[in-house]
Order: sequence, then structure tokens, then C-alpha cells
Amino acid sequence: EKAGFDHFMLKEVYDQPKAYRDTMGARIDASGTKVLLPEVGMTREQIADIRNVHIIACGTAFHAGLVGKSVIETLVRIPVEADVASEYRYRSPIITPQTLVIVVSQSGETADTLAALREAKRNGARVLAITNVVGSSIAREADDVIVTWAGPEIAVASTKAYTSQLIAFFLLGLYLAQTLEKVEAGYVKEVLAAMQELPKQVEQVLAQADSIREVAEQIAKHHNLFFIGRGLDFATALEGSLKLKEISYIHSEAYAAGELKHGTLALIEDGIPVIALATQEVLFEKTVSNIKEVKARGAQVYGIHMEGNDELSKVVDETFAIPQTHQLLAPALSVIPLQLLSYYASLALGHDVDKPRNLAKSVTVE
Ligand code: F6R
Repeated sequence: EKAGFDHFMLKEVYDQPKAYRDTMGARIDASGTKVLLPEVGMTREQIADIRNVHIIACGTAFHAGLVGKSVIETLVRIPVEADVASEYRYRSPIITPQTLVIVVSQSGETADTLAALREAKRNGARVLAITNVVGSSIAREADDVIVTWAGPEIAVASTKAYTSQLIAFFLLGLYLAQTLEKVEAGYVKEVLAAMQELPKQVEQVLAQADSIREVAEQIAKHHNLFFIGRGLDFATALEGSLKLKEISYIHSEAYAAGELKHGTLALIEDGIPVIALATQEVLFEKTVSNIKEVKARGAQVYGIHMEGNDELSKVVDETFAIPQTHQLLAPALSVIPLQLLSYYASLALGHDVDKPRNLAKSVTVE
């Protein structure tokens, strides 16, 4: 069942090219110009009527939601809020019948996410679920369901379910934008072509596993580290940090790179590892200047950038390149080295990778 891998997590990391293909599947038409989402039952009028979007989830699924927020706001130009379900439920959110609520859950059983879905429905919102489990409570109660076809995820740490949620958000964002004619046909075609390259590109990232393992073994010697990035890279930083904490028990913080100097920079001292994500072209120079700030205070910086942009290697100690892709899609590649990093750090420390202490795969209590 582990298909020759030592752990479910590693198998699931390597399942990702297939999970991407299956999740895109028949949802991209044969000409590669249109997204087909028959499972979204909203009419064009209903879509045009959406005034705002709330994305609700917990943990890793929430991090996918943060990417979803950027994707939908960029493509559809509708205001989107993303909340963790346990906060959303109790903060008296302003939900109207013109709110589209998107709940994201691998298991489809997370108690807080399910309760938030019910709260949204009580207030008359339409609820769209992105879930990996057909027939789960969340899938049954939502109005529309986009299934992520990642296949069963056994390891507690979510990997392929997360990246499949990203694929679902790319498709949904494009679908809404194309329905409302918010983007040019040529643009949709270009993003879809880039999406179809992703499975092969994930394999290229996985081929760097050995060098990521070496970094993981260095990191495993530390008690604290930072993940920094801006924009979509910040969402990926949050996910990388959660994954590392969850299975290696090493403390880390994810920081919006521009926010460092508002306090956290005080913690940067000689030798502290900083994982810096810099895949976003428009933010690149800004992130580089933040990297220089931590370098100047002695940090050991590992950078993640897109191929063809080698500027980063001049300012950091070591770099990992992800293949070139469309800016919006970068999180689907840049998170892969971070998954491997946490896996190998956990392994180096001798922890139970698939069953980290204190955690359960499905959180059905508040
Ligand atoms: C982290 C992890 C958790 C889950 C969270 C939500 O690797 O797996 O943070 O993402 O408990 O679970 P689902 O997606 O099943 O609602």
C-alpha cells in the first residue's frame, strides 16, 4: 500500500503528478481553452450576482484557501476573505445570499469547517465545497462540490490533498472569470497550458530530493527557523512552516517578508536558517531586500526561485529552482521542496513521520 516507499507521506508526495492530472482531468476541454465545471450548478446570472466570497477551512486546507483568495481576486476581481473555520464561526461574519462561501476540507469531516458551512447556509449563502472525500458530510451538505481527485491520503501531514486543492482553486478561478468574461480567452489558454505542464514539472522538483535532504539534515540541528515570502509566496511559507512543525517538531514561523522589520527581525541571529521564497516576479526585488536584511544579521538563507532567474543565488547561501510557470501557479511547485524538507527533517530526527504526536488525521471535534 505504500508502494515501496518508507512512509505514506513520501508516497503521497510522489503521488502528486498523478493527483494534479486527475484533478484537472476532464475539467479542461480538449482544445485547452475552457474550464468545464459541470459540478458547479450556478447559472451565469447567479455567478454574476456574487458580491463577495468567503473561504473557510482549517490548517493546511486554510493555506490552500489563502492561495484561492489571491487567485479569485486576481482573476475575478471580487472581494474574498479567507478565515480559519474556528474563528469564522464565532466572529459574526457578514453573510448574505450574495455571498459565495467556499469550504475546503480534505476529509470533508472537520467539525469547525462543517459548522461554518451550516452557519453560511442558515444565512442564505450558497456553499461550494472543495473536498477529497466523495460522500463526506461536507460534500453532502454543500450546494456544489468540486472533488479533488488526490486519492486517499493516509499520512497525517497533508501533501497531495493540499496541492490538489490548489489545482481546484486555479480551475474555479478561471471558470468564474471566464463565465463573467473578466479575462481574455488568450489569457485563459495560457494559464491552462501552464497548468498542464505542472505534473511534469512536479517530477522535476522531486528529482532534487537528494539536495533537499541535505538541507533538511542541516535544519534538523536547529530549534528555530523562519519561512519568509510575499504574496502567494507568503501562503506557501505558512504551509511550509506548518508542515515542518507538524512532523519534525522544530519550531518555525512564517512571516510576510515585508513585515519582518516590524519586530521579528530581532530574533534573527547568527546561523539561524531562513527559507526565503521568491517566485513572484513583481515582488522579487522587494523580497531580495528582505533577504539582505536577514543575511546582514547572520542568517543562513535557503532561497526558492523560478528557473531562469538566477539573481537569488548572488544573495543567498543555497538556492532551489522550480521550473518556470505562470506566477499564479507557482505555489503548486514551490511547496514541493518544503514538503520534502519537512519529511527529511522528521526522518533525520527519528520521529514517526506518518503519525505525529498529538495529531489526528481527521478532526471531528471542536
Ligand atoms: C496539516 C493537516 C491539517 C489539516 C486540517 C484540516 O498537514 O493535515 O492542518 O489540513 O486538520 O483537515 P481537513 O482538510 O480534512 O478539513
